[in-house]
Amino acid sequence: MQYILALDQGTTSSRAIVFDHAGQPVAMAQKEFRQLFPQPGWVEHDPREIWATQHAVALEAVAQVGGIEHIAAIGITNQRETTLLWDRTTGHPVGNAIVWQDRRTAPRCDELRAQGHAGRIQRKTGLVIDAYFAGTKLEWLLDHVPGARARAERGELAFGTVDSWLVWNLTGGRVHATDASNASRTMLLDLRTQDWSEELLALLRVPRAVLPQVVPSSGVIAETEPALFGRALPIAGIAGDQQAATFGQACFTPGLAKNTYGTGCFMLMNTGAQPVASRNRLVTTIGWQGPPGPHRTAYCLEGSVFMAGATVQWLRDGLQIIQSAPEVESLAAQVDDTEDVYLVPAFAGLGTPDWDGYARGTLVGMTRGTGRAHIARAALEAIALQSADVFAAMARDAGLPLTELRVDGGASRNNLLMQMQADFLGVPVVRPQVTETTALGAAYLAGLATGFWRDAGEIAAQWRAERRFEPRLAPAEREAKLARWREAVARAKGWAVS
Ligand code: G3P
Repeated sequence: MQYILALDQGTTSSRAIVFDHAGQPVAMAQKEFRQLFPQPGWVEHDPREIWATQHAVALEAVAQVGGIEHIAAIGITNQRETTLLWDRTTGHPVGNAIVWQDRRTAPRCDELRAQGHAGRIQRKTGLVIDAYFAGTKLEWLLDHVPGARARAERGELAFGTVDSWLVWNLTGGRVHATDASNASRTMLLDLRTQDWSEELLALLRVPRAVLPQVVPSSGVIAETEPALFGRALPIAGIAGDQQAATFGQACFTPGLAKNTYGTGCFMLMNTGAQPVASRNRLVTTIGWQGPPGPHRTAYCLEGSVFMAGATVQWLRDGLQIIQSAPEVESLAAQVDDTEDVYLVPAFAGLGTPDWDGYARGTLVGMTRGTGRAHIARAALEAIALQSADVFAAMARDAGLPLTELRVDGGASRNNLLMQMQADFLGVPVVRPQVTETTALGAAYLAGLATGFWRDAGEIAAQWRAERRFEPRLAPAEREAKLARWREAVARAKGWAVS
């Protein structure tokens, strides 16, 4: 059995990638699924589509390598915080999944802050109170789906993030589990004990009976239902996609950081075996639990940008100024600069460092000369500028200058964007040979648990840089650009407050 199968359930598509022992992708299948926007600020997925697309791509990828007998284990990685609730007996969801980008619980978060819970929640969970995290989404489902609260209290319903939903379906409803990295995004987990916090369950009125069991990120947690793939396979690794990417980038040493350009953009820095509280509005999160070794549990500091690739998707599907996402690079390259146009892609509010659930997308500085190339360039700049804000917060928290940034994810293949990123950070950006780092991280977690790879050292030795982007902007120019960007951000903030 020469391969590991990674299931990468992302925000806009489900993917399955098969990796060989050298950590190289040898097969890949991908399917997009529907994004549902029932009201302004709301984002939903149909849980059945999530599972159907994920199962279909897994079968496709396995077929590409000649069949299930070649697969040693499965690793799961997933869009985080997206919240599902389903019936334990029938396995049917009680409604759509509330996606991490959904802002419907922003008023509830205001209330929690006004009641003075921010400090306590940050100390316990490492998180800033925000509609982004799963806790208030679960509370909303329990309050708004008819009968849900009573049924949850009777133990009839199961809550889970997408990892739990996949495990449930992969095991034919036998196992209800989540890994520590996903659990740390719920606002219900105590970071230190790595167990659900009674205090937070009480605050958000979540019955314990609804919760999954918290399991390590690397370890055999279950076997798949034989009928799904023709034979049972061990599920041996689970991690939220950003934590998995950190693992896939071999950021095993405190101080190493990566930025993943997916639907959003998430920068995580390994801070070692103890959680470090942020003083600059980053969140503290569990990186992974296991594999056994000196860094059994790794904690990370994270900066979360809600719109990265999704901004390009909006240029394609909303504004319709490009036909395919990769086209953005050539369109943006048609102009040398944006002529002072800024796009603030606060379509789903703003995450780090602003944490404003009421911010909305803004395009400022347009003149009669503004064309679609300027807007495309402003969109790419916005992705890099948001990450520059996060990077600055991270450097302040780390208390030392960060000397380079490892990048991955789909848009990391966009050279123009990577050059902008190096320019706006003022430090080199390093792209590895394998940019499917999220799936690779899940494969590594599963492969370590099953002896497919020996240890973290073997994995770290597989990491290779493919290209390094050196900063070219003079420091004064960079400062001016960042300052102008902050002015544009200020105009987007608070827009949706009624
Ligand atoms: O926290 C949300 C994150 O997990 C989504 O990741 O890859 O879909 O942008 P992605």
